[in-house]
Amino acid sequence: MNDDVRIDPWGSSQSTDYSRMIEQFGLQSMEGVEVPSPSRLHRRGIIFAHRELDLVLESKRKGEPFGVLTGLMPSGKMHLGHSMVIDQVKWFQQQGGDITIAVADLESTATRGISLAEGRKIAAEEYVANYAALGLDPQKTTVYFQSQRSIVQRLGFQLGKRTNLSEFEAIYGFDGATNLAHVQAPLVQAGDILHPQLEEYGGLRPIVVPVGIDQDPHLRLTRGLASKTNWFNVNDAKMGLQVGVSVQDENSAALGVQPDGRIDKERQKQVFASIVDTVSGLGFSDIISNPKHGTVNIPSATTRDKGSIRMALLSLERKMGGMGLLAPSSTYHRFAVGMTGDKMSSSKPKTTLFLSDDIASAEKKIKKSFSGGKSTIEEHRQLGGNPDIDVAYQYMMYFFEEDDAYLAEINEGYRAGKILAGEMKQLCIDRATEWLNDLAEKRDETSHMINEFFE
Ligand code: TRP
Repeated sequence: MNDDVRIDPWGSSQSTDYSRMIEQFGLQSMEGVEVPSPSRLHRRGIIFAHRELDLVLESKRKGEPFGVLTGLMPSGKMHLGHSMVIDQVKWFQQQGGDITIAVADLESTATRGISLAEGRKIAAEEYVANYAALGLDPQKTTVYFQSQRSIVQRLGFQLGKRTNLSEFEAIYGFDGATNLAHVQAPLVQAGDILHPQLEEYGGLRPIVVPVGIDQDPHLRLTRGLASKTNWFNVNDAKMGLQVGVSVQDENSAALGVQPDGRIDKERQKQVFASIVDTVSGLGFSDIISNPKHGTVNIPSATTRDKGSIRMALLSLERKMGGMGLLAPSSTYHRFAVGMTGDKMSSSKPKTTLFLSDDIASAEKKIKKSFSGGKSTIEEHRQLGGNPDIDVAYQYMMYFFEEDDAYLAEINEGYRAGKILAGEMKQLCIDRATEWLNDLAEKRDETSHMINEFFE
């Protein structure tokens, strides 16, 4: 038996073997990645992995635009776990990104049996109301419905051509019995993720997708789909970088390949001249064009130049009539556990803290939560507790406690047996009370803004 991890975005369990996932799915670790003004989730390693975040950080550094796209499934109440994506979004917003949020009402209808009308109501009352309260700026955020942006559906449909059932089987573990809603939903999600770079939605720029790790299969799919449409690929070569020209049904005429396979030499010359022009426009002088092999080499370019060369060639592709889609970047947060120590889920209300919970029920849930303390006080005093599995401590770390120094203090105190399990719960209850009250107040103050988020 192989013990590979499979991530099922619709499943009810979730692996927490994060280093395993990084390795198996080719994610990049966030360790050692310097981000400006790191948020609580960055500082504590909760945002643990990414794909090509450097493209986004580079844009930010140069003062160039970048976008953020994420989505929500309108199928139940918003819980604390959902707020982590919004924390990520908020951070990107502070860094200057423009924000687009998809309400996955089509996915929710197809996979959860929620009507479009219900989905609309849930999105506004449960999610967007809390986004406003959590501090997203409605002037810089657009929320739309999948069912109402035909472009995302059209893109999804078009991109379907670039994949097949075998790939879905490999990525998602589908088989012959799989409901086709689970085939359609990822394609629409690919449309969600890619459409902000179309001209009418802001044009070519890096787009980052902040999500929980459960959504990575969709990113793998989408990144593959985008790359397969690209006319020009940039790869490492023995010396420097190499641009490869990818001839496809859609672009063969534009690239000078005639229907009978013969080459239109004049056209081909123009194409390669355009590539050379584009690359030299970036400041490279030593450029070796080899139309016969379909390649252009740039010996002096380094891996660091890849991003800018790619962007310039995507622009060229667009001018020549192609889609010029840049594969999305992404960042991933770990999952906070539910009150029992398992996955947090809207369908298990007793073990999940909702953003609309009243203080009494939050208190009750925290009191009953899984503890990392020892079974007797003497034992605890002697051996200490384990904050790594203590839900109350985890919630302080993930959600309620901003102050790193104080967090470290209670971590040590707990380990040393100075803080008892019940005391840790009380600390968490105090902070949770403050946090939930504050959020409820903000929800009242910002309720008039809800409509401004929708397109
Ligand atoms: N599938 C996501 C979920 O289950 C929702 C979603 C739809 C989404 N489109 C997206 C997430 C685009 C990120 C990006 O929660």
